[in-house]
Amino acid sequence: MIRVEDLHMHFGGIRAVDGTSLEIKKGSITGLIGPNGAGKTTLFNVIAGHYVPSSGKVFLDGEDVSGQKPHELFGKGLLRTFQIAHEFSTLTVRDNLMMVPAAQSGETLWNAWFHGKKVKAEEEKLREKANEVIEFLEITHVADELAGNLSGGQKKLLELGRTMMVDAKIVFLDEVGAGVNRTLLNTIGDAILRLNQERGYTFCMIEHDMDFIGRLCDPVICMAEGKVLAEGTAEEVKSNDAVIEAYLGTGLKNKPETSA
Ligand SMILES: Nc1ncnc2c1ncn2[C@@H]1O[C@H](COP(=O)(O)OP(=O)(O)O)[C@@H](O)[C@H]1O
Ligand SMILES: [Mg+2]
Repeated sequence: MIRVEDLHMHFGGIRAVDGTSLEIKKGSITGLIGPNGAGKTTLFNVIAGHYVPSSGKVFLDGEDVSGQKPHELFGKGLLRTFQIAHEFSTLTVRDNLMMVPAAQSGETLWNAWFHGKKVKAEEEKLREKANEVIEFLEITHVADELAGNLSGGQKKLLELGRTMMVDAKIVFLDEVGAGVNRTLLNTIGDAILRLNQERGYTFCMIEHDMDFIGRLCDPVICMAEGKVLAEGTAEEVKSNDAVIEAYLGTGLKNKPETSA
């Protein structure tokens, strides 16, 4: 579904992405790991259109989409989750979800909400869809809560829910499990698996928790210094010498976490 060919993203002298080539297969939940500073987030940002690559290409379903804008890619079903923006924290969970289609297409909040009658019917449809998402994610008890009042994990579920408001083909998740407690992490993991299995979403996720990755991801790709170091099952990658070396090289505190 995604093919990245010899991608470079340089910031001045920093080669954040330095010749990365990889593929994300349709229907997979592909894990992306690597020590801090490996270039993972930058790679996501280039793929999702936030940066124009210094060189190299990104293909989506065979189409060269290198350098296309986030909203163009969004229209093609390529989504990247974001933390709930500040201005959305004073809206309820349901309203946050109902905002997504308009907000992501570049419309302002005001345009999205105050279009008059024609929008009424649309609003009803959006409300139904949002309620469906809320049920799917099992967050009905906070549907009318302000997003700003959610726990860290519930916010992550809401971020995931936002991808369900539009027709996503592939969703990029950057450390969706960071700082989330075990119970909610499992809920998030279940939601990802169900979206993958029941709705055919392809995922690519940056994660540090190796248990979480092992449960969800196949294959796992490890990056270091802007390049792909290894690819395989979670077990294969974890025991790969070059991978172990890369983590050791940046200090033990960066090694993949396992929750004993
Ligand atoms: N906008 C930017 N300007 C300059 N340097 C950047 C920028 N974004 C990332 N970098 C640098 O690129 C490298 C890779 O960063 P990043 O992609 O965030 O790695 P990771 O997500 O794997 O931890 C780091 O050295 C980081 O400091
Ligand atoms: Mg990062």
